[in-house]
Amino acid sequence: MGRLEGKVAVVTGAASGIGRASAERFAQEGARVVVADVQVEAGRAVAASLPGGLFVKTDVSNPAEVEALVAAAMTRYGRLDIMFNNAGIAPPQFSLADIDLAEWRRLVSVNLDGVLHGIKYAVPALLNSGGGAILNTASITGLVGFAYNGIYSATKAGVIQLTKVAALEYARSGIRVNAIAPGATDTAMLKQSVDADPQALTLIQNMMATIPIPGLIPPEQIASAALYLVSDEAAFVTGVVLPVDGGYVAQ
Ligand code: NAI
Repeated sequence: MGRLEGKVAVVTGAASGIGRASAERFAQEGARVVVADVQVEAGRAVAASLPGGLFVKTDVSNPAEVEALVAAAMTRYGRLDIMFNNAGIAPPQFSLADIDLAEWRRLVSVNLDGVLHGIKYAVPALLNSGGGAILNTASITGLVGFAYNGIYSATKAGVIQLTKVAALEYARSGIRVNAIAPGATDTAMLKQSVDADPQALTLIQNMMATIPIPGLIPPEQIASAALYLVSDEAAFVTGVVLPVDGGYVAQ
């Protein structure tokens, strides 16, 4: 307890899954948390459950909304210490020749533009607060190839490069930038993917057959790793991509 005492954190995609578990964990550790999401009712409920929580409806693909999100955190709390760019969406599985180009644009605008917007607008606020931590949610699909998952994988590989470059650019200014790369995590996104798409179910089943530590990962396990990376315990950790994946990418 108290590992984030006095800190202010923004978590995008915090109405559900990994973002929600992280917002709750950060708050348990003493942070005041701004919950950002496109889902209003669920986002408000998460913020209301956190001491000093604030909900700001935000579509991360819209730069003006991300700028307003950071401004809302600064207005309410007067500082920003942690920006967790976690919001993301998953498409149906496509082979590359069959990719729906509208779906590609939508994925890039949320998963990649959204992270860039979070970095762009958080950096001035973090600098104004004397430094801090940015954490981005990538995926193991950004580290290794998964057939039929090309557009999602490409956005997550992009998140990894944005993470490394931002880490280098802001290290001397006291801002650490890291990424987390979850494996198959037990959230609404995963359930919706496998329910809607038999190919997604096959992909998960194949992964489960070979994964060193089998089973879906509880979102709280991703939140534990996120907590470490944004806390002062990781003061010398920047530019890393931490897989939390049951050993999948070690193979
Ligand atoms: P989730 O669906 O439970 O949560 C995602 C949240 O992001 C939702 O609350 C949703 O409303 C919000 N969101 C979607 N588009 C948004 C937008 N444009 N602006 C703001 N909020 C938006 O899914 P989960 O699994 O918690 O996903 C969180 C992150 O983890 C995503 O970036 C996802 O790509 C990543 N991830 C998930 C894995 C999994 O197996 N569940 C594996 C690897 C990465």
